[in-house]
Amino acid sequence: MEEFKSDLPHNNYTNGGSVTARCSSNIALIKYWGKKDIQIPMNPSLSFTLTESFTESNVKFMPKDCEGFMVNVYLDNQLNELFVPRIYIFFERIEPYVPFLRSFEFEIHTHNTFPHSSGIASSASGMGALALCLVEMEAKFGVEFTEEEKLKKASFLARLGSGSACRSLYPGLAVWGKSEFVKGSSDLYAVPYPYEVHKIFRNFQDTILLIDEGRKKVSSSTGHKLMENHPYAKQRFVSASENLGKMIPALKEGNLKAFGEIVEHEALSLHAMMLTSFPSFILMKPGTIAAIEKIREFRKQTSAHLFFTLDAGANVHLLYPRNEKNICMNFIENELKQFCSNGNFINDFCF
Ligand code: DP6
Repeated sequence: MEEFKSDLPHNNYTNGGSVTARCSSNIALIKYWGKKDIQIPMNPSLSFTLTESFTESNVKFMPKDCEGFMVNVYLDNQLNELFVPRIYIFFERIEPYVPFLRSFEFEIHTHNTFPHSSGIASSASGMGALALCLVEMEAKFGVEFTEEEKLKKASFLARLGSGSACRSLYPGLAVWGKSEFVKGSSDLYAVPYPYEVHKIFRNFQDTILLIDEGRKKVSSSTGHKLMENHPYAKQRFVSASENLGKMIPALKEGNLKAFGEIVEHEALSLHAMMLTSFPSFILMKPGTIAAIEKIREFRKQTSAHLFFTLDAGANVHLLYPRNEKNICMNFIENELKQFCSNGNFINDFCF
């Protein structure tokens, strides 16, 4: 981890300033669920970085004399105290790698392009954007980075804020977690997916059905923790690793059927872990199941390649190729929209 430490001096930050960065959200195809130590995943994961759903953050920094961290967060220009404790934990974890965090008072202004209640995790894009801002600050203070080094450090830092955030730094597909199948992969940061991807996956669509816009009952951190004494955890970690191995030829060959099978198996395994943990919890809602059944019927009746995945919540992500957008959008409007809260869904895509 030495490579992520910077040799900046500790005490001569006399100038304030500001930095801005943008980071997208992502949707996992192979899921991260279960971790050890400080944000070390129990299995490798793979995700699509989204395009339209992103966070933009501006960080103003003013020199200060007192000890401790000082952070104020404004979400859409409104002071938001809910985020501050999480940022202090993040700052404590990253301090060995970012030496100036106690030298400044920080004012973070942040905006998400997606609604807070949409179930799209703003922690991934938010932590990604903040990590990028901090790396930009280091660059301002004289650390020389190539673009690649900047993203790698931001991914390393973002992981310490929220695991899935480290994948969001890269457009397209990103892998986080050491895997025998992916060269250069690491538990400490994500890497851009290094292998050939068939053109059918270009501009792959993700329509997010907003089945439930409420706050979820069980947080991801609690869910990860419940994997520690989970009766099926060991097998789940093996299966996720194997699924990554199976995904590589599917992505190369443009094998949509295999892709869909793996992605759906991953989503259902994630929720099966929730159903069988102690205590058990259910994040799916009746609308989630109803949508999945409709999708399966639709696939029987048409030759469309429309697949679903789920995050740690009730919303359904619909994944399909760009060239099937018309048939899939018709189906969504006519058959799936009814399960969405206020008929709401979001159209996004992976670049
Ligand atoms: C179901 O990254 O939110 O979305 O590391 O505790 O912040 P923390 O967890 P988080 O977990 C995401 C879980 C997931 C699957 C995934 O994105 O891989």
